[in-house]
Amino acid sequence: MFQGGLPAWLLQKPNIILRSADTDYLEAVSSWLAILLPKIKPWLYINGGNIITVQIENEYGSYFACDYNYMRHLRKLFRFFLGEDVVLFTTDGNTDKEMTCGTLDGLYATVDFGTETNITVAFNRQRRFEPQGPLVNSEFYTGWLDHWGDQHAVVGAQKVSRVLEEMLTMGANVNMYMFEGGTNFGYWNGADHDTSFRSVVTSYDYDAPLTEAGDPTEKLLAIRDVIKRFRDVPSGPMPPATPKFAYGFVRLQQVGNISTLLDTLSPFGPVQSKYPLTFEEMKQYYGYMLYRTTLPQDLSEPTPLISPLNGVHDRAYVSVNGVFQGLLQRDTILVMNVTGKQGDTLDILVENMGRVNFGSKINDYKGLVSNLILGKDILTDWKMYPLDIDGAISSGWPHSNGQKSIPSPQREPSTGPTVYMGTLQPNGLAWDTFLKLNEWIKGQIWINGVNLGRYWPARGPQQTLYVPGPLLSTSLPNNITLLELEGAPTNLLLLFMDRPQLNVTAGKS
Ligand SMILES: *[C@@H]1O[C@H](CO)[C@@H](O)[C@H](O)[C@H]1NC(C)=O
Ligand SMILES: *[C@@H]1O[C@H](CO)[C@@H](O)[C@H](O)[C@H]1NC(C)=O
Ligand SMILES: *[C@@H]1O[C@H](CO)[C@@H](O)[C@H](O)[C@H]1NC(C)=O
Ligand SMILES: *[C@@H]1O[C@H](CO)[C@@H](O)[C@H](O)[C@H]1NC(C)=O
Ligand SMILES: *[C@@H]1O[C@H](CO)[C@@H](O)[C@H](O)[C@H]1NC(C)=O
Repeated sequence: MFQGGLPAWLLQKPNIILRSADTDYLEAVSSWLAILLPKIKPWLYINGGNIITVQIENEYGSYFACDYNYMRHLRKLFRFFLGEDVVLFTTDGNTDKEMTCGTLDGLYATVDFGTETNITVAFNRQRRFEPQGPLVNSEFYTGWLDHWGDQHAVVGAQKVSRVLEEMLTMGANVNMYMFEGGTNFGYWNGADHDTSFRSVVTSYDYDAPLTEAGDPTEKLLAIRDVIKRFRDVPSGPMPPATPKFAYGFVRLQQVGNISTLLDTLSPFGPVQSKYPLTFEEMKQYYGYMLYRTTLPQDLSEPTPLISPLNGVHDRAYVSVNGVFQGLLQRDTILVMNVTGKQGDTLDILVENMGRVNFGSKINDYKGLVSNLILGKDILTDWKMYPLDIDGAISSGWPHSNGQKSIPSPQREPSTGPTVYMGTLQPNGLAWDTFLKLNEWIKGQIWINGVNLGRYWPARGPQQTLYVPGPLLSTSLPNNITLLELEGAPTNLLLLFMDRPQLNVTAGKS
């Protein structure tokens, strides 16, 4: 499972070992569970509620720590707050190592797997750990998630329903991951780091039985046909898909580039430090932060700006005196060229592209996590501007500044991080729609103050962002704000369509 997560402030302890018996970590876990579990207790089955089992960790066997003291601590806390009369369980991937490190006496061991796994082998492994009791696949993968640059993941309806039928025929219990995937709105997408950092796209449609917009699919019908053979299903018609509307094109206008908007976007101003501070040290856990310094000498020839320790987490947009020069990217682009004069302003906007949420690399500090070198010099004397773009937008900026009636001057679109605004005129409808950003490159977009997430059609596979109907106003102008990080198309157009497009992979670089 990939969603949910640990709060980023845990990383303020630089050496914390997450998901282990590390004292700082256990202290945080204990204080959280002391609040959470008493709220759950009244809803346990034994107390008349509908909770029959509680999972206490997730795929812990896939994590490097394999710390039984940590698992014992969790078991003690859950028993203390919930009592003896509830089944506590664990979920693990289907190998001996995972099952060995993820399970513990007194916690019912279940397994998780998708359509490519031999179910006999998988449940036999669960049986070795749980000789008695139900067979449980606690995450049956009905589809899969996408990362930027991947081909869109698709798992066939026939395959899903066939494997489901085989499991139900064996009398096994199945939880579907996902049944409805939804959307990683705002900054909430996660990332993986196996051989390199790969961030998950905004859509979590997942090719699940219900779409990102909650609509039924062929896969849902196929699954229902299987379930019908084992249990009664509700009679009557299936609720239909909600209506979708193609509101058409909206033209945006430029508000300004990040360098000129700092007073609005970073109201508390910069923090100064000889060496760069991380997002966590600055207590800015999401989004974007601007790192500013000056060029220590004239650079008349293109001079390499280097991230020698791969310390750009995760993507940096570099300008000198407001002129965009290029970008650095974790694991893939560790050097670029810069020109300028001594004393010129070097602005580096760093994007946190989502934290690693699986595997051993979850201590995922963001920002400039190590020094940058320009030519032969370590860059020093930084000013760090934490950006609160969401805060500015939720207080009405930039639309409340009265710029909306001024027609967009037909100027050359700028390159580098720039803010745009526009309005979708109300037409009496507030139906779901899908926003396509043709020829925009990469950025973040808000509508009526809600952060819809990241777009990156130049990479794909996701080409449209889901806009839930209830976000739209039927009578007031719908306010759109967009941060484009690299370069806008000359026509500055957005398109609201009546269907999603999630499967066009444009590039990987
Ligand atoms: C699954 O594994 C079992 C035991 O190894 C084997 O007998 C069976 O043929 C396998 N099933 C499939 C579909 O490969
Ligand atoms: C940012 O805006 C300022 C002021 O309008 C301008 O001087 C500068 O060139 C702009 N930078 C970019 C990259 O467009
Ligand atoms: C930087 O500029 C030098 C000299 O023009 C060139 O040889 C080199 O390929 C450039 N490096 C990058 C990363 O663009
Ligand atoms: C959009 O912004 C304008 C100007 O601040 C405001 O009057 C209007 O109510 C906003 N629209 C919505 C849907 O909030
Ligand atoms: C992309 O998805 C659409 C349906 O959403 C489908 O019609 C089309 O064939 C798919 N294209 C590719 C390349 O898979």
